[in-house]
Amino acid sequence: MPHPAHALDAQEQSTLVTAAAAAPSVLNTQPWSFTAGPRGIDVHADPGRAPAATASAARDVHLSCGAAVFNARVALARLGRGARTEVLPEAGDPLLVARVTVADEPPDPELEALYHCVGRRRTNRYPFRPQAVPAGLMLLLYDAAAWEGATLRALDEEPEYQRVLTLIRKAAWTEDERAREDRAALLGAGSGPPVLPVENLGPVPRGLSEGPAVRDLADGLDLPGRGTATFEQHPTLAVLETADDDPVSWVAGGQALERVLLEATGRGVAASFANQPLEDAELREDVSSSAAHFGHPQMVLRLGYPLTVPPAAPRRPEAEVLRGVEP
Ligand SMILES: Cc1cc2nc3c(=O)[nH]c(=O)nc-3n(C[C@H](O)[C@H](O)[C@H](O)COP(=O)(O)O)c2cc1C
Repeated sequence: MPHPAHALDAQEQSTLVTAAAAAPSVLNTQPWSFTAGPRGIDVHADPGRAPAATASAARDVHLSCGAAVFNARVALARLGRGARTEVLPEAGDPLLVARVTVADEPPDPELEALYHCVGRRRTNRYPFRPQAVPAGLMLLLYDAAAWEGATLRALDEEPEYQRVLTLIRKAAWTEDERAREDRAALLGAGSGPPVLPVENLGPVPRGLSEGPAVRDLADGLDLPGRGTATFEQHPTLAVLETADDDPVSWVAGGQALERVLLEATGRGVAASFANQPLEDAELREDVSSSAAHFGHPQMVLRLGYPLTVPPAAPRRPEAEVLRGVEP
């Protein structure tokens, strides 16, 4: 048990919840809820909120929740506390993804230093500057993923780069009809409010005959106010991989993803994702079929230096995501 002096007051608990809720999530569905108390925060999965038709549905929920877990750890460090993280702590409750509690040890300064990036990070679906992310910085991001037990595989050599790019394009043509309809409904073609405003979707890509590596989430939807843009020809691409492919690994993958994204944000590098080949079981196999691969692909990242910064994507209010007190 932590020393009573380490107990979190109501304001500090709210800081944890706000940080956790700022994490990236599949289609901004925020498939989570939280229980906060003096000892820390529980992160619960809420799979009913996320798209169900893709082969990646369960993974995407765990990856999203893992990113929320990482932000909670960062916030605890900011609050001057050490953190203990238990992933899937109760065998009888698979929706309890993780418990992050105050530990009787000093905060991790590396995590504390990332706190200022939690609210600044954005998924950026606008064109980036033509420069590649330098190799030294990619190494730093590799280390960030490695700290969390994952591998960030930079696609920095041919033919691997073109091979994965081709899979990204192929996935856009072959997407399952039900998955496409689910996505369209979430983005404004359905009855509910859209999960993402058009400012967050970025412009409709043009100018590259075979399609850029940016994913147009609203492909085929006629949403007013988007505009069009030419994207960088050769974005920096990387695949986040985990050695195993089970819920514990996906939660680790989500924490690694957020650590990479916060480190990148702090250095002026933005990211968007081209996960469409990972949402199809066969294409996902192909993404990982390179001789040099380390493990199972969880996220495909497009990294670069932004020209435009989108607004923060909306979040559900704290009252809605907080399902109670006392972890
Ligand atoms: C598991 C997962 C998969 C995602 N897949 C994609 C994707 O394929 N394309 C994309 O543009 N964004 C993708 N995203 C980013 C989310 O859409 C984004 O986090 C969400 O809209 C919230 O916006 P924010 O990251 O700016 O806070 C993904 C995020 C997660 C966690």
